[in-house]
Amino acid sequence: MSRPIIEARDVTRTFPGRGGAPAFQALKGVSTALHAGETLGLVGESGSGKTTLARVMVGLESATSGEVRFQGGALKTRADWRALRREVQYVFQDPFTALCPTMRIGAALAEPLAIHGLCPHAERADRVTQMLGLVGLHPDTARRLPSQLSGGQRQRVNLARALMVEPRALICDEIVSGLDVSVQAQILALLVDLQQRLDLALIFISHDLRVVRYLCDRVQVMLLGEIVEEGPVAQVFDNPQHDYTRALLAAIPDRARAAEATDGD
Ligand SMILES: Nc1ncnc2c1ncn2[C@@H]1O[C@H](COP(=O)(O)OP(=O)(O)OP(=O)(O)O)[C@@H](O)[C@H]1O
Ligand SMILES: [Mg+2]
Repeated sequence: MSRPIIEARDVTRTFPGRGGAPAFQALKGVSTALHAGETLGLVGESGSGKTTLARVMVGLESATSGEVRFQGGALKTRADWRALRREVQYVFQDPFTALCPTMRIGAALAEPLAIHGLCPHAERADRVTQMLGLVGLHPDTARRLPSQLSGGQRQRVNLARALMVEPRALICDEIVSGLDVSVQAQILALLVDLQQRLDLALIFISHDLRVVRYLCDRVQVMLLGEIVEEGPVAQVFDNPQHDYTRALLAAIPDRARAAEATDGD
């Protein structure tokens, strides 16, 4: 297999305890790797360390021990991390907090170009219009503020912002969990479409195992800061080896499972 775009090797992360509380080990030696074009699902109950792992992988959080590697190499300098932060974009769960409330959408989308010194100034407005189109938004959206958009529109903007710098990979952390079910489906369809058009690799963090099964090639199951099971989605979902994976699968609502069982007919 080709060398991964991004990789975590035996990463631990301990958060210091506050006010006399003991330190908390959120990651207990996690290894993962994302290869070009693939979709890797990351599932596990709340607090299992999914977001912490994602944040460590893009340098928003430091590892206590272990290593993050980018395109096969160690990350030694700030420039290395900057290169990673361009190629691997972290898409936040909540577009309300991800977008500055007083910045118009056009400016918010142009900002990553300025940060990374991409695209001549005079061409940035065109790039913004083009990107709005790619995520299914009207060009006029550029003049709006985040508060003037629906939740689904905001998440489209959030995706557009991540894509402005032409990354190779996105880490999508619960990006549809705050949305109505019908809007969720639209955003997921958009994500699949963008992935195919732009040849993106994805880490898809989700509580919704049905969506993970539909979207992902491989899945890793996290429990209490560790990966307890991993493999191709069909293998893990049809023949789970770990009790915790079985429990997660058993928690999928019955109607959904019934629908899944008739999927292949
Ligand atoms: N900055 C921090 N300081 C202290 N503890 C933290 C910090 N960030 C995360 N934690 C703890 O680390 C654990 C893992 O959190 P994390 O957000 O990674 O979980 P998660 O799997 O993403 O959960 P969810 O599904 O709810 O988003 C939790 O117990 C959390 O309280
Ligand atoms: Mg999380």
